[in-house]
Amino acid sequence: MPRTFRVLITGHQVDLLQKIAEALAPLRELKLDISLLPHHETDPLGKPGPLPDLLVHCLSAQAELELGALIVRPPAQRPAALLVVGLPGNSDLHHIRLAMQAGARDFITQPLAAEELRQDVHKIQGELASESGSGDHALTAFLSPKGGGGASTVAMGIAHMLVARYHVPSLLMDLDCQFGSQYLNLDLKPEKGLREALDAVDAIDEVALKAYVAAHPSGLHVMGALPSQILLPGDVTERQLYQLLEILIRNYGQIVVDLPCVIDSTFSLIIEKMRRIVLVVQQDFQNIRNGQKLVRILREDLQVTPDRVALVVNRFEANNPISLQDIENALQLRIVGIVPSDFRSVNDAANLGIPLLEHAPKSPVTQALLQLTGWMMGIKPAEETPPTFSAKLRAWLAGKG
Ligand SMILES: Nc1ncnc2c1ncn2[C@@H]1O[C@H](COP(=O)(O)OP(=O)(O)OP(=O)(O)O)[C@@H](O)[C@H]1O
Ligand SMILES: [Mg+2]
Repeated sequence: MPRTFRVLITGHQVDLLQKIAEALAPLRELKLDISLLPHHETDPLGKPGPLPDLLVHCLSAQAELELGALIVRPPAQRPAALLVVGLPGNSDLHHIRLAMQAGARDFITQPLAAEELRQDVHKIQGELASESGSGDHALTAFLSPKGGGGASTVAMGIAHMLVARYHVPSLLMDLDCQFGSQYLNLDLKPEKGLREALDAVDAIDEVALKAYVAAHPSGLHVMGALPSQILLPGDVTERQLYQLLEILIRNYGQIVVDLPCVIDSTFSLIIEKMRRIVLVVQQDFQNIRNGQKLVRILREDLQVTPDRVALVVNRFEANNPISLQDIENALQLRIVGIVPSDFRSVNDAANLGIPLLEHAPKSPVTQALLQLTGWMMGIKPAEETPPTFSAKLRAWLAGKG
């Protein structure tokens, strides 16, 4: 299981602490604690208790003393990360400086924007994972156990949404080295791609990397075999690929890998590196039969634990005799996304070379992919988030009216 990320919210104003807790509640893999400090307490960690991974401290009128208490703490007695929420009004440069001395990763000004706060915390969570050596947190592969299941469509839609909606620097890596079409789907004309990057891997740094990716106007970067090339098995050595992935991990917040279902040594290496593997399946027997085979290979041959694998049902039809429950039971995996069939939107977007979010923002397929992107960002679907006090109050008032 992914390790729970422990967040402690401290400060002197109960309503502000609650507001932050409500903003962070939709994030998965998070354990939230609130510590309302007594009036006289100026040490944010003055109350006894285990150190959190992330301390979110809200400054009060005694901001200098609070930040000072954090600055003088020995490193071993500090939380892994600190996020400081400033006083209302203009952010005070003096406080920002002190916060930086205390090791703060960010300084948030009031009024709070819930989405911005969530993104910050998610980013810090990723940074800590990466610093602790589990930097593969950003890698997600999409593949279909049966050709044509929709892995490339889903991977591209999500990679674009990660950039366009969540502003996460992201790379779409097309590892279908023979028939990949992500450059075409995004109307990109790359000069150098995966082959060239692999050949130059020993010399590539952050700056040089830019020459090997194609940048979509949205900000999404794409890397794959050039449309004119076909890479054969053996053209991609494991060492080069491993090295390239390490460079990419250091440079992107999220890497979405479009992976063909060809079981070879490249496949094993990629699967081993991925934090998440998303199987895109359709509601038919061949998908399920191939899916079962693939799940067995992942578990038994590649030692992938089930918590790293999730299902997306593509081209979902409510009246199909194979239900979602049938699919979950057969593959013993959790469905995290349900994408309806929408030939017109998907086909037109691909033909025009425009991402779905731009071409058909309101279409059901785009909406479903947005939900799935939320899952990638660690946001729980609304129905899983416990109602907050204000939501309960609103519901109660609505019932009264
Ligand atoms: N939800 C959907 N609604 C309608 N058409 C879809 C949907 N998802 C995918 N398609 C279409 O199905 C076809 C196959 O999709 P895609 O290329 O994404 O699948 P794939 O699993 O990557 O296939 P391959 O095995 O060739 O790599 C494409 O023509 C695509 O436009
Ligand atoms: Mg594909």
